Amino acid sequence: MNITLHINGIDHEIEAPAHTTLLSALRGLGFHGAKFGDEHGLSGADTILLDGKPVNAGSLLAAQAEDHKIATIEALGEHPEQGWKKTEGLHPLQRAFVETGAIQCGYCTPAQILAAKALLDKNPNPSEEEVREAIAGVLCRCTGYLKPVQAVLRAAAEMRGETVISDQFSVFSGGPIEFPSASMDDTQHATRNTLVTPKVVLTPETHIYQTVGKPEIKVDAVKLAQGKPAFAADFEKRGLLHAKVLHSPHAHARIKRIDTRRARDMEGVAAVLTWEDIPRVVYSTAGQSDPIPGPLDAFSLDNKVRFVGDRVAFVAAETPEIAEKALSLIEVEYEVLESLLDSRQALGSPIRIHDEPEYVNFADSNPEKNLAAEIRIDIGNVEKGFAEADQIFEAEYTVPKVQQAHIEPHVAVTYWDEDDRLVIRTSTQVPFHVRRMLAPVLGLPVKRIRVIKPRIGGGFGGKQEVLMEDVAAHLTIATRRPVIYEYTREEEFIASRSRHPMRVRMKTGVKKDGTITANEMVALSDTGAYGCHALTVTGNTGHKSMALYVGDGEYRKSPNIRFYADIVYTNTPPAGAYRGYGVPQGYWPLDRHMEKIARALNLDPIEFRLKNAIHAGEYHPFSTAWNEGREPRPEIIHTVGLEQCVAQGRAAIGWDEKFGNEAWHNPSKVESDALSASKGQKSGGSTFDLQPSTRRKGIGVALVMQGTAIPYLDMGGASIKMNDDGSFNLLVGATDLGTGSDTVLAQMAAEVLGVPVDDILCYSSDTDFTPFDKGAYASSTTYISGTAVFKAAEICAERIKIRAAKMLGKQVDMYTGTHVYKPDEIRLVNKMAVAPDGRSVSLADIALDTLHKNEQEQIMGVASYVSPSSPPPFAAQFAEVTVDTETGAVTVDKLVMAVDSGVIVNPLTASGQIEGGMTQALGYAVCEEMRYDEKGRAIERDFDRYHIFRADEMPELETIFVETFEPSHPFGVKAVAEIPMDGVAPAVGNAVLDAVGVNVDNNPITPEKVWKALQGKIESN
Ligand code: FES
Repeated sequence: MNITLHINGIDHEIEAPAHTTLLSALRGLGFHGAKFGDEHGLSGADTILLDGKPVNAGSLLAAQAEDHKIATIEALGEHPEQGWKKTEGLHPLQRAFVETGAIQCGYCTPAQILAAKALLDKNPNPSEEEVREAIAGVLCRCTGYLKPVQAVLRAAAEMRGETVISDQFSVFSGGPIEFPSASMDDTQHATRNTLVTPKVVLTPETHIYQTVGKPEIKVDAVKLAQGKPAFAADFEKRGLLHAKVLHSPHAHARIKRIDTRRARDMEGVAAVLTWEDIPRVVYSTAGQSDPIPGPLDAFSLDNKVRFVGDRVAFVAAETPEIAEKALSLIEVEYEVLESLLDSRQALGSPIRIHDEPEYVNFADSNPEKNLAAEIRIDIGNVEKGFAEADQIFEAEYTVPKVQQAHIEPHVAVTYWDEDDRLVIRTSTQVPFHVRRMLAPVLGLPVKRIRVIKPRIGGGFGGKQEVLMEDVAAHLTIATRRPVIYEYTREEEFIASRSRHPMRVRMKTGVKKDGTITANEMVALSDTGAYGCHALTVTGNTGHKSMALYVGDGEYRKSPNIRFYADIVYTNTPPAGAYRGYGVPQGYWPLDRHMEKIARALNLDPIEFRLKNAIHAGEYHPFSTAWNEGREPRPEIIHTVGLEQCVAQGRAAIGWDEKFGNEAWHNPSKVESDALSASKGQKSGGSTFDLQPSTRRKGIGVALVMQGTAIPYLDMGGASIKMNDDGSFNLLVGATDLGTGSDTVLAQMAAEVLGVPVDDILCYSSDTDFTPFDKGAYASSTTYISGTAVFKAAEICAERIKIRAAKMLGKQVDMYTGTHVYKPDEIRLVNKMAVAPDGRSVSLADIALDTLHKNEQEQIMGVASYVSPSSPPPFAAQFAEVTVDTETGAVTVDKLVMAVDSGVIVNPLTASGQIEGGMTQALGYAVCEEMRYDEKGRAIERDFDRYHIFRADEMPELETIFVETFEPSHPFGVKAVAEIPMDGVAPAVGNAVLDAVGVNVDNNPITPEKVWKALQGKIESN
């Protein structure tokens, strides 16, 4: 049918089937600012304005939008510099999002901005609550909403004509900074007082740099605020086919017969592939360095399915709808096999999930026992430590399976280029691993594959998997046509990866004075149907949590620690990498256990933890015993900012006033006392009902540590070249998945080269053009790739200084005959090379001289870095909760995290990481869980049943950076991205215990579990 759409003031006529959604019509017309997030409009990524009101374009038919005014992000504003053309630049909302750090991956940004615009159009002076409500329909998995809310309030102030200072952020060692506004009178909302930049407690070793340590604007923010076609699916190619996958309805079955004739014969279908059509190549989908530290147990397609959602067949067709229809025409006869859905039944069961002859073992994997990996680590003499303890504490804990839930689903586009090389444009964290690992699967040499990583709409480990690029690639090989495969939200839940669920048993020996004599963790980890990341994730569970508490006195010198784990196959969707990479699973049992011990021994919970925590100058205990299946290499920890983190965090949350203070715990008592004092009278004269409240408040703490990269393994490369205006191209293989890594890498290059950040043009990543990088994982980019960037920049700087010395020397010889300086006496600052006597030459002049005039050369530097150490960041996480004793409902009121991540390169992007990480961890603490029915079918398949936090549900968040100077990095940095995942759940669990005196040992802490625990307490009293 013919449809006319009035978009951004212009009529567009399209011919499309009646079922075409407005989202698909808009994207077909090149309006890529509207994004696909899910099928039901629950993510809100597809928000556009229809007659000024926010609507979900994916939930409307294009035909329904006829005769209405459609506004997309493309209508709002544009880059302020458009050559000779005059432009008004960005809309105030876009500018505010850019300047406040409200954009991380940027996938939700156009939708948030449009939702905010609709609000400001009708209410120019909204409160913070009204802003939160207005953007609540747009889910963001990256930011924690704090900065987007700041951005909207700031834009509103500017649009009301108030002067807002652009360069408003500064970093200092004082307390929270008020969000400044030049005019703040009584008529304005006080909510802007909540707008803070993080407090940064500087280390004395930190230098004052030109750009490092400054809240620089993200290098990609302007394009993301405009909704530019930056993501993998924002791509047009003539003849593009759409891929769909037939997923298994059974948890465990053999495919006896598969008939694709009706599907193949359907008009518009270009290819149907089953296991009979493609080579049978065994591999692992875990995006890791060679050799993969895990078993090879997966095929692109197999004659056996191992979970509900496993692959059965691929289809490529002219439209997604035809492909979907074709799936329904494929006839499959299954021999249904008995399945294993419970990890406790898997080990040694006669039911074998992997019986294929091609299976390749890694280390102690054993498919005959359904064992994907096994870990046995003994440090010191654990039995002796238990024997020396005054008391032994034992308990069992469980942690659930949860989803990364990045708002951009997995998506890949594949095509043959003009040189017959296969191009894979994919939303991946590991482009170089994708190329290396898929080459044998596709029957191509590595050199005939090019992987392009465009902007990524969030990954959180979910895109550290070579999950679905092979589907599109097989179909391109079969059809010779370009193919796009974009996961639906349901596929994300049934056929993606998730956090490994675990059952963990803790046993700890303690002296009366609180000295830990031995600590043991035994984990049963469920890897699902395939063993991707099985060993390494679960290894981290012990490695990065159990290392924190070494004991005190003699025990500190020789800690007794045990970590054993069995990682078993089950017939559930595979687990994999998820931000934190196994460590959150360790801290739930470890820290909950520490809290119980402290309370049982009547010890101060903070002092007890600090007494036993590791100190600077001590060996990382696990470095002497384990290295992800490789040879262990002992490593000393040089910086531990834990005590300062505790001091800062406890002051920020008011620990000393609240912990142990019954009046604070019992708000009803405070209220009722206040009422009694006023004789129970309201000001109007009516009497209050003095019913005791069912609310109790509680406060909790957890101490955590993480790691920074994998030593002797993680490697990053960088290349920098000088342009003839004195700007630089920085090429990195590192992948910015919304974390701001492109920005912090550019900051480090800018620092060395003495230029502003916008003179560094950062490009990442393309396996044809950028240097190798192992990818974005293990919190390693700032540390590993950052050091590579630093080294490459130093090479350039050295050449620039040589040229500058020569140029300045010629000037001197000719006119004054004074001293000629050596290159190492030249400083690079403010785009100039400056001699000690103050004379200078601009980098632009040096570039012109170098490229066009004298002894021409291309100034460029290439470097790489692999680290011999993995310096851990540390943090103190605090939580304040209110528990309703009648319903068990837990409201988290405030989260404070004080973090030692070394020197902070960019407090704006780093605090965004902490805020977003705490928010994800909050879901892990109280509501997120993936569950399965008795047939292995997922119960949570959309954002309705799987709830992630919205803008209007958030607690107050506060971040404090406590800097240490890590000596193994040129700027003293450690990791920041994963550590916020670790402490929120145990801190909330401890706060619930503090509030109502019950332990919930199985997270998430749902109202039902709290209520049951409360009932148990009542009964036992
Ligand atoms: S910035 Fe909101 S989803 Fe990434």
